[in-house]
Amino acid sequence: MLVEFENMRHVAITAVGAHLPEEVVDNAWFVERYDTTDEWIRARSGIRFRRKLPDNEATSDLAVRAAKEILETRGLKPTDLDMIIIATVSMDHIYPSTGNLVQAKLGATGVPSYDVLAACTGFIYALVQGYSMVRCGMYDKVMVLGAEAMSRITNFDDRSTCFLFGDAAAGFLLEPSDEPGIVKLYLGSDGSKGDILCQKAGGSKYPATEERIRNKEHFLYMEGREVFKHAVRRMAQASDEVLERSGWTTDDVDLFFAHQANVRIVDSTVKHLKLDVSKNYATIETVGNTTSASIPYGMYAAYKEGRLKKGDKVLITAFGGGFTWGSGTIIWSI
Ligand SMILES: CC(C)(COP(=O)(O)OP(=O)(O)OC[C@H]1O[C@@H](n2cnc3c(N)ncnc32)[C@H](O)[C@@H]1OP(=O)(O)O)[C@@H](O)C(=O)NCCC(=O)NCCS
Repeated sequence: MLVEFENMRHVAITAVGAHLPEEVVDNAWFVERYDTTDEWIRARSGIRFRRKLPDNEATSDLAVRAAKEILETRGLKPTDLDMIIIATVSMDHIYPSTGNLVQAKLGATGVPSYDVLAACTGFIYALVQGYSMVRCGMYDKVMVLGAEAMSRITNFDDRSTCFLFGDAAAGFLLEPSDEPGIVKLYLGSDGSKGDILCQKAGGSKYPATEERIRNKEHFLYMEGREVFKHAVRRMAQASDEVLERSGWTTDDVDLFFAHQANVRIVDSTVKHLKLDVSKNYATIETVGNTTSASIPYGMYAAYKEGRLKKGDKVLITAFGGGFTWGSGTIIWSI
């Protein structure tokens, strides 16, 4: 489904922020504990390092640091915000939402806040919501963050998934603009594939019991090979769709940010799109798959590095549990 509003305000990304926890977990950590090798992990996933948050912190603590950077760089007080949206699958609690906790920790008194749950596509879903609010004139300053403590929901008994994920938070401030910033956004889902990538227990269908906890049913479960096939197909299709609706071709794109699921998934998507590989910006080697934080963290890193400059045309795409997928075209405004 394409998200479109005609004759309304343009929406731009006007500030960025991110936070990575200090602790770095390298592949040697897994080699010491599992029947695996650094070569296998790198060849299958492209990952060398990921970050892990301290025991006394939770997802909201990562999100608050990213949020503070956004406020500071834009010279805003927390109460200047009109809305806080957090995409996450590793929320501090089922409720209150992580958005509510971030609102309180920031001191954004009275500012509405909530979470969006669309797994690795969560940030694009949240972006659609923030974009829509600004585009139609409902709000002027919407903060959209992706924040994850994946190390808290990873099943460390499953050697085929445990090395993939990392902790991070990153996001944007969205504001009205004279020039187009976010050009088009596109979303899709297929709930019939939900059990291939899920966190089964802990909700109303399978409430936590001793047995379910013993069976690790409250951790992330993934059939990697199946997910792989769908991820490439959906990210490529979503990218094609949003490019066409924007009147862009891959030649117009200056930088491409795919959800950092796995280097092979991203490389296959790039190949399908016939995109110049030099336009593919990757962070997976150093931070792993950070789920909802993956796309905004990539854009943050590219901007800080000087790779992403004002006026650059950006293509984003993601795929994740649900299944969910999405894409977007953006003209960078900072
Ligand atoms: C998880 C993933 C890296 C596994 O790679 P794969 O090539 O599909 O590997 P498989 O699970 O089919 O396992 C292949 C073999 O490696 C073995 N293996 C699994 N984990 C291993 C590890 N850590 N080290 C060494 N060998 C391992 C398996 O036992 C299997 O052995 P077998 O052939 O003798 O049975 C890959 O499927 C993947 O990245 N999928 C997408 C996941 C993703 O990115 N999800 C994010 C959500 S968007």
